[in-house]
Amino acid sequence: MNVLGIETSCDETGVAVINEQSQILAECLYSQIATHAQHGGVVPELASRDHVRKLIPLIDQCLQQAGTSRDDLDAIAYTAGPGLVGALFVGASVGQSLAWALQKPSLAIHHMEAHLLVPFLDHAGGVEFPFLCLLVSGGHTLLVHARALGQYQVLGESRDDAVGEAFDKVAQQLQLGYPGGPAIEQLALSGQATLPPFPRPMLEHSSLDFSFSGLKTHTLLSYKNSGKTTQENADIAFAFQQAVIETLYEKCRRALEQTNLTTLVVAGGVSANRAMRSKFNDLSDAGINVVFPDLKRCTDNGVMIAYTGLLYTLQNKAAQNKSIEVYPRWSLADAQS
Ligand code: KG4
Ligand code: ZN
Repeated sequence: MNVLGIETSCDETGVAVINEQSQILAECLYSQIATHAQHGGVVPELASRDHVRKLIPLIDQCLQQAGTSRDDLDAIAYTAGPGLVGALFVGASVGQSLAWALQKPSLAIHHMEAHLLVPFLDHAGGVEFPFLCLLVSGGHTLLVHARALGQYQVLGESRDDAVGEAFDKVAQQLQLGYPGGPAIEQLALSGQATLPPFPRPMLEHSSLDFSFSGLKTHTLLSYKNSGKTTQENADIAFAFQQAVIETLYEKCRRALEQTNLTTLVVAGGVSANRAMRSKFNDLSDAGINVVFPDLKRCTDNGVMIAYTGLLYTLQNKAAQNKSIEVYPRWSLADAQS
């Protein structure tokens, strides 16, 4: 069995083919970063147009690399939400049209569910429910109790900016370019703890929700009041990153305590952050099984969609239907089960 995965929810066109044994036969990724970097962030219309240009050639390239033809595909999985409406429509239209032309079943995949599941791809045992999952991307910050495939209880979420969004906005102010996460991480490497600690938002609340806009403003004010030397900028990046990581860490620690779960999965673009990965290993010392995706599967990719599609196909959830629908806002709690 071969499943094709298509990801077009934001600024990456991702395609992959995976087989029944969860082996990746091929994966192709086209990043639009160069297009959006000139504008300081993602321009939705440019994203849609780029997906239109790149998706079909990328599918052909991916099938060729996999050594499979279109007829060898048994199901087509595509991201149906959440994300940018136009960008989602490109993947959904192509995915559904391909499925219809080949008379094969398709699957509308929840982007955040795919982030949540992909860390298990390289684990011998596959997905082992239940677990706690911290999802940190450009659009979402979610703390989730994952009970079974398609059964997710959201324990906490951001009340304002997502973590990745806060990284991107701070980086924009510090003129570090887009995307901001990797740039802040890099700059923070030469930073030192010279500043009074930045606020750790919402830790005084018993709720597991997050809020990062106050920390973002605090960071911007520190920058405004600084001498803007390279070292001062690095110290600010360091203090900001520390505050984010420690806040996320503490909320996860509390959630693990409250749920008695012993596995923590951290996924989504921000989970590529090495300082964060290193801090979260402290939980391993406390007996928690901490699972991160491979570095290249933290940010958006086609493999995570193909893998999620495979898991549902194995549960006979793939179906033939001709409607093309996308869900720009789609709660993880309503993902398929
Ligand atoms: O999951 P993702 O690729 O796309 C969305 O679903 O949003 O996440 C992208 C986000 C961006 O905000 C980016 O700045 C952030 O992930 N990011 C990072 C790092 N790499 C990507 N944030 C912190 N440190 C990183 N190394
Ligand atoms: Zn994502």
